[in-house]
Amino acid sequence: MNLFIVNSSIGRKLVMSITGICLILFLTFHMSMNLVALISPKGYNLVCEFLGANWYALVATIFLALGFIIHMAYAFLLFLQNKKARGNNAYAVSAKPKEVEWASQNMLVLGIVVAAFLLLHLYNFWAKMQLVELMHQLGVNVCGDALSKSADGAYHIAATFQDPIYVILYLVGLGALWFHLTHGFWSALQTIGFNNQLWFNRWKCIGTIYATIIVFGFAIVAIAYFVKSVCC
Ligand code: HEM
Repeated sequence: MNLFIVNSSIGRKLVMSITGICLILFLTFHMSMNLVALISPKGYNLVCEFLGANWYALVATIFLALGFIIHMAYAFLLFLQNKKARGNNAYAVSAKPKEVEWASQNMLVLGIVVAAFLLLHLYNFWAKMQLVELMHQLGVNVCGDALSKSADGAYHIAATFQDPIYVILYLVGLGALWFHLTHGFWSALQTIGFNNQLWFNRWKCIGTIYATIIVFGFAIVAIAYFVKSVCC
């Protein structure tokens, strides 16, 4: 089994699909939770408090981080494997079939842009919230102001998105995420076995709608808080 998921191409794709679907589920939850910030900043902070440095939230964070790391490590493995398989014909692939869409040809690059976006995002939010609480619990001296704001998610959203540069960076990151998800969704389902001809186009359509809802849900929060900072 171990050899299967490391050595075989199908095994690697299966690992990527399962971790990818787990990450999509996380994004669905995260986006839905963020929408609360549009309706009630107080309600959003209650959710942030619940998801602070509590043991269950830390366990979820560890699983989530493992999911991201495994997904990215296997993406590189698959990329290297495909490159090796092409051998000396590495340059002959310029004649890519037209029906293979842009996102599927650029999954690795899109994934790298999403990962870079994620690092920026973790610095903006996670490092100022859950990490601050965790350090405080571990006895590390953190500044009182940082600690008092560590569960104030609405404050951090407002502070980040009052800056138009961050709004633009987030929209670029979300654009890459959209392309990555539109291809990743149906590709994962196909690998898992939902690959009959009838459903092929249907899954592609469902995946595109799903990715659009997720990305739109994230983007609307960034835009709404920016507009609020300009108008109020
Ligand atoms: C406008 C868009 C977004 C907003 C306002 C937002 C907000 C937040 C906030 C407030 C936290 C900290 C929660 C806490 O520590 O209690 C967080 C954590 C996180 N966000 Fe986002 N987020 C956005 C988009 C995204 C996107 C697109 C991704 C993935 C590509 C993402 C991935 C994460 C991850 C992995 C964490 C750490 C989760 C954990 O601590 O377990 N977020 N986000």
